[in-house]
Amino acid sequence: MTLDKRLQAVADFVPKGCKVADIGTDHGYLAKYLYEQDNSRYVIAADLNAGPCEAARKTFAEFGLEDKIPVRQGSGLEPLSAGEVDTVCIAGMGGKLIADILAGKKEVFAGLKTAVLQPQNAARELREWLLANDWHVADETLAKVDGRVYQIIKAENGISDDKYTDIELLVGPKIIKKRSELFEEHIIGIRTGFEKVVEGLSKVKDLSDEQNMKLQETKEKIKELNSLL
Ligand SMILES: C[S@@+](CC[C@H](N)C(=O)[O-])C[C@H]1O[C@@H](n2cnc3c(N)ncnc32)[C@H](O)[C@@H]1O
Repeated sequence: MTLDKRLQAVADFVPKGCKVADIGTDHGYLAKYLYEQDNSRYVIAADLNAGPCEAARKTFAEFGLEDKIPVRQGSGLEPLSAGEVDTVCIAGMGGKLIADILAGKKEVFAGLKTAVLQPQNAARELREWLLANDWHVADETLAKVDGRVYQIIKAENGISDDKYTDIELLVGPKIIKKRSELFEEHIIGIRTGFEKVVEGLSKVKDLSDEQNMKLQETKEKIKELNSLL
């Protein structure tokens, strides 16, 4: 059983020997891989729903890992106690939900050193939330699965002196620095979203001041994205 490139990229950011919880584990593939790749890791698999917890238990049993990886049912960090893990992975959820999960149990969040996050959307808002909560973006990468490019963020506890522009928060500061082979596709993906907004607003007959401002701002964003290519 191999991980797809998205989950592999998440796994690659998880420190060796850490105590890690995979929040929203679903089938448990990532948790299984994290344990098998480095069995000095303490791995917990957690999910909100009973079905995924059952699926994860099944995966672990199939590989004789049922006594190695505890499965906990509950929302976000709720099933964890303070200091129990120093790392979390939260993949395949919206950026807003990921931030809400991190904020959801302060005593657990305070004990984290690393969070490996793969937001399906709102990556910019997630980066802003991390910075506002005295975390920083330590590394980032892109992974493509089934034609879609995903952003993976390795965030670490602690303030950094780095100040990011609007466009860096949107695209990913480390993603811009690295300019990997998926960079252009990533930019085009973001740009397409903005182009749809421009298209929609351009059809409105009498734009309000607010709509007009949004239109100008969106066009400016498209220009800035183009300048990165
Ligand atoms: C789209 S799946 C992603 C599974 C896996 N993390 C991945 O990236 O392939 C989302 C999973 O998160 C779980 N989930 C949704 N909200 C959650 C929450 N607040 N706390 C924990 N798990 C949650 C769902 O039950 C589901 O199993």
